[in-house]
Amino acid sequence: MTTAATALALSVSAQAAFAECNEGEVVAKFSHVTNTDRHPKGIAASLLMERVNAEMDGSMCMEVYPQSSLYNDDQVLEAMLQGDVQLAAPSLSKFENFTKVFQIFDLPFMFEDIDAVDAFQNSADGQAMLDSMARRGLQGLAFWHNGMKQMSANVPLEVPTDANGLKFRVQASDVLIAQMEAMGASPQPMAFSEVYGALQTGVVDGQENTWSNIYGQKFFEVQDGITETNHGIIDYLVVTSVDWLDSLDPAVREQFLKIVGEVTATRNAESTAVNEEAKQAIIEAGGTIRQLTPEQRLAWVDAMRPVWDQFAPGIGAEMIEAAQGYSN
Ligand code: LMR
Repeated sequence: MTTAATALALSVSAQAAFAECNEGEVVAKFSHVTNTDRHPKGIAASLLMERVNAEMDGSMCMEVYPQSSLYNDDQVLEAMLQGDVQLAAPSLSKFENFTKVFQIFDLPFMFEDIDAVDAFQNSADGQAMLDSMARRGLQGLAFWHNGMKQMSANVPLEVPTDANGLKFRVQASDVLIAQMEAMGASPQPMAFSEVYGALQTGVVDGQENTWSNIYGQKFFEVQDGITETNHGIIDYLVVTSVDWLDSLDPAVREQFLKIVGEVTATRNAESTAVNEEAKQAIIEAGGTIRQLTPEQRLAWVDAMRPVWDQFAPGIGAEMIEAAQGYSN
């Protein structure tokens, strides 16, 4: 092993327990960026690994690399096309270089809760999105839920004008950049693994994320507080390469996809509860959480909703109407 490979193996073994892969087994490396406990994606990825390694022993062997220990989301899709990694679950905001169909999920106040997201994803429109990047070599296997996004900053955020002039980290998404600009803030696209340090050193003033990410990355420790805005969502696409999926023996592929489907159903049903636990853990750890009055909430909606007009022509009015049909 090279020194770099040894260092990687050591840092990874501190975070993930791998089964020994045997001769003849297809190795499936799953790279993701979050923590593994009290996190919907972290728990789902670990469960997928456990089940594949227990039930597909002899044919497939899975290794999960959490916390950006192998790739961050800016690198992972190219690495997948090169065959260096087989599975990932980036948020739907991270696919803009490959397809614009997921932009609908970034529109602020589009979905009232994760049940509405789930229903839309399970519709014919949502399921068709799994295949939207096939000609670019990527195949969506399932949607995994995280939860609703909240806003945090190094000053109290009660109305959108409180964000005027502040720098906010965003995922690399044109919709999220426009959303922060609509609030009079300065959007700063940045990899997830860099956010804690950027908040701590004042490179950025604030960020938006789910309770599980705010807890898992300890953002609450370096922010004034978190405002419960529920203004958007973070959800994931479990993705692989068309080439890898095609290369599997049909029986192996069928068994693998069946396990993916079952893990998806089991863990998606728990995602809201996992975020609620993370929220409680933030409170127990001394984090400040602010609630909005109905009037304050309306001010956030009024500030952000104009973003829809900018992206509606590309997304399509019928698609937006269909997605809205799942919220009251
Ligand atoms: C982020 O970059 O904030 C999220 O997409 C990270 C994640 O995977 O939840």
